[in-house]
Amino acid sequence: MQQYFPDRILYGGDYNPEQWSEETWREDMRLMKLAHVNMVSINIFSWTLLEPEPHKYHFEQLDRIMDMLAEHGIYADLATATASPPTWMSRLYPSILPVTQQGVRMSHGSRQHYCPNSPDYRRKAGALVEQIATRYAKHPALKMWHLNNEYGCHTGACYCENCAAAFRKWLQERYQTLDKVNQAWGTTFWSQRYYEWEDVLPPRATPAQTNPTQTLDYWRFMNDSLRGCYELEEEILRRATPSIPLTTNLMVAFKPVDVFDWAKHMDIISFDMYPAPHDGAAQVAMPHDIMRGAKGGQPHIVMEMSPSQVNWQPQNPHKRPGQLRMHIMQSIAHGANGALFFQWRQSMAGAEKYHSAVVSHEGSEQNRIFKQVAQAGAELAKLAPQVANTRIHAKVALLMDWQSWWSSEYQPGPSNQLRYYEQILTYYKALYARNIAVDIVSPEAELGEYKLVIAPLLHMIMPGVEQKLKGFVEQGGTFLTTFFSGIVDQNEHVIPGGYPGALRELLGIYVEEFDPLTPQMSNEVVIEEGELRGRYAATKWGELVHLKGAQALARFGQDYYAQHPAITEHSYGQGKAYYVATHPEQRLVDTLIKQICAQAGVEPVLDTPEGVEVTLREGKHGEKVYFVLNQSKERQQITLPEGSYTSLLDERKVQGTVEMGPLDVLVLKK
Ligand code: GAL
Ligand code: ZN
Repeated sequence: MQQYFPDRILYGGDYNPEQWSEETWREDMRLMKLAHVNMVSINIFSWTLLEPEPHKYHFEQLDRIMDMLAEHGIYADLATATASPPTWMSRLYPSILPVTQQGVRMSHGSRQHYCPNSPDYRRKAGALVEQIATRYAKHPALKMWHLNNEYGCHTGACYCENCAAAFRKWLQERYQTLDKVNQAWGTTFWSQRYYEWEDVLPPRATPAQTNPTQTLDYWRFMNDSLRGCYELEEEILRRATPSIPLTTNLMVAFKPVDVFDWAKHMDIISFDMYPAPHDGAAQVAMPHDIMRGAKGGQPHIVMEMSPSQVNWQPQNPHKRPGQLRMHIMQSIAHGANGALFFQWRQSMAGAEKYHSAVVSHEGSEQNRIFKQVAQAGAELAKLAPQVANTRIHAKVALLMDWQSWWSSEYQPGPSNQLRYYEQILTYYKALYARNIAVDIVSPEAELGEYKLVIAPLLHMIMPGVEQKLKGFVEQGGTFLTTFFSGIVDQNEHVIPGGYPGALRELLGIYVEEFDPLTPQMSNEVVIEEGELRGRYAATKWGELVHLKGAQALARFGQDYYAQHPAITEHSYGQGKAYYVATHPEQRLVDTLIKQICAQAGVEPVLDTPEGVEVTLREGKHGEKVYFVLNQSKERQQITLPEGSYTSLLDERKVQGTVEMGPLDVLVLKK
């Protein structure tokens, strides 16, 4: 697969110079050079300046910005500016404005106020992109296209008439006949049958819960609608500039957009990373492994991170010394080849004036934030030649599936305590704690290279997945899944023959009933022998499990199903399949995964004290670069694998045991 920018780590940020005079721009160029900036994202919200009245385009200012960047050797990640239509547009075409599930039509006056299925929006957006693409196709500053901005961020779904019409069309393509829609949606129940296409609606506000398959299809349809907007721009840009890579900034833990589906259309994966102040290091790490996994290990980019505080959390503490550098280094450690900020210069007015920026309100290079950014920039410039061409190689795959996410969280459902992303994170944390490299991939991915596949809460089994998982285990792979998995097919119909439906044979179990627990209820997982011996808390979920060929590794400790299996192991072909029938406390997940990894022959990159994270990026010719990150507040001693190393940040030679201060980072080349 092609690697764009093979020799550099991209560094910079969102640059919105339209807010200042050109004198300030010149100062920005000076400061960018000081901070080792080599790429900026521009034009993201400039539609209103580019097209102040219908069909009258003005590019003079953007020309000057592009020319200035070229002059200073700074790459432009040029945005298509379609994320926020001009105010006159909603007056001329009121149906551009999106409508909520409750039927409220949104107004302009903030941003992203467009319906993704509005023909007027699409036509106007297409025309604008056509203009930009033709004008800048050959511009020397143009190095990457940034389509729109955070698709779906504020308008993840729209329920207007445009969407209703587009939904019907989407359904006709998917099912051909209304009869098949009725079948898939199970409309015989609750008198929901459709006799005319025009009666089919988006799942708008209803007296009781909307039909589950209709709701699921709407998630799918909205993902496709947003992607349709992306594809509209993609087609224009590929025609104009076949060799310029395309990206859009995806988001973390964002349910409306299926990252794996979108990845097929993106040349470079980029995403916006805004951890909450209390998020642990594993939680900050996980999205990197999703983004990297989405493109088969190709380097990704952090398109936005905040240099210090944001302005949209309930409270917005600034980043403590060392934290920003850690976020940057952890990104590179997990395979990113770029770290950019929102935004370059702090706004003096508008919605984000209290959001931190590289150049703060005070404006000089003497500021704490600026100094940190410049120092990290110098470090990345040092690392780039040794690191940009290296990759992470994982033997473990964590399956993440938007279809299961959409369907397992349907409400009202068995439990409103079930959070799909949290279940993935639970198993991710166990791998993270052991420094075990993991690719987070979709069930569609090729699994052949992996030794262990973990699929928490794989509720929906899409066509082909059952066979694929069976094949993987038959040939010696190790598989683990958890409660409420394997239950429904792609239409949300329960798979007959008893739970866990499609996974019954592979797991060698039968689940007679599942038992979602209230927050006041709990159970226990009891393990009688071996390394995991002990009693562990279990919450959220219990199940009545029967063995059908598997053996019990652990049993429930309480309630009427005490003594029934809680964790099972099944030999299948050359491999093994494990099942965890509850949500155990993290301590158990950690040790269980540790044991299963050892049995599956999966080695950690390095054994380290708690709080120290290590990853390994490898070059084509066996070069090894270790990232050692002390995520803790204590000094730590780390024993390195045998051999001698060069510390790339300060050219020291190190071997044996090294000592690291709190939040310190070592990048070691063998
Ligand atoms: C992102 C957005 C940026 C900026 C940033 C603030 O969601 O793409 O434009 O608003 O958040 O944290
Ligand atoms: Zn709409």
